[in-house]
Amino acid sequence: MKFFIDTANLAQIREAKDLGVLDGVTTNPSLMAKEGITGTDNILKHYKEICKIVETGDVSAEVISTDFEGMVEEGKILAEIDENIVVKVPMTKDGIKAISWFTANGIRTNCTLVFSAGQAILAAKAGATYLSPFVGRIDDIGWDGMQLIEDIAHIYAIQDYDTMILAASIRNPLHIVKAAQAGAHVVTCPLDSILGLLNHPLTDIGLAKFLADHKKANG
Ligand code: G3P
Repeated sequence: MKFFIDTANLAQIREAKDLGVLDGVTTNPSLMAKEGITGTDNILKHYKEICKIVETGDVSAEVISTDFEGMVEEGKILAEIDENIVVKVPMTKDGIKAISWFTANGIRTNCTLVFSAGQAILAAKAGATYLSPFVGRIDDIGWDGMQLIEDIAHIYAIQDYDTMILAASIRNPLHIVKAAQAGAHVVTCPLDSILGLLNHPLTDIGLAKFLADHKKANG
């Protein structure tokens, strides 16, 4: 399973990259706004900067347009920023039409705001490179986000679809483990969730004992 970081914060992207486990980045308009990145030129420059840090990994950049023509025009501009840009398109009728157009024209896509297996089938038929089911937001309304990942993984396997499942809206380290178990190809998560995977009290206790024993024996 690949690890993407879900942020537009350059310091956090660098920190994940320095760990040596970063395979890519996903952003969305809310995450860009959170970093105070506004205006087309600044947004395009910011994506360029992210691509530079990630080096070889995919970077999802989301369109703002909601109509087919607008999505295509915006997507073409985004795709020109860097060869690793993946155009993120919402799961709507125009979005599916745009994903089909991008697929036919060699531009890779990430279909976002996915909340059902039916939507996942449609995105795969349109040729989406990645599919982003929002696990945390499904959990938020009392449904089972991880069950959706499992259902889509099952459908994609038996139908032999090429679209990669990118588990999104990840909120904690357990979500990452569960996404791996459920068959996600990629997980995109906040830095905190990635770092949370490091923690176990027995690791801390064990290390303290090793160091104390070494000190006793060596002075
Ligand atoms: O990038 C989309 C997704 O990961 C958003 O997560 O936490 O806002 O539901 P969240």
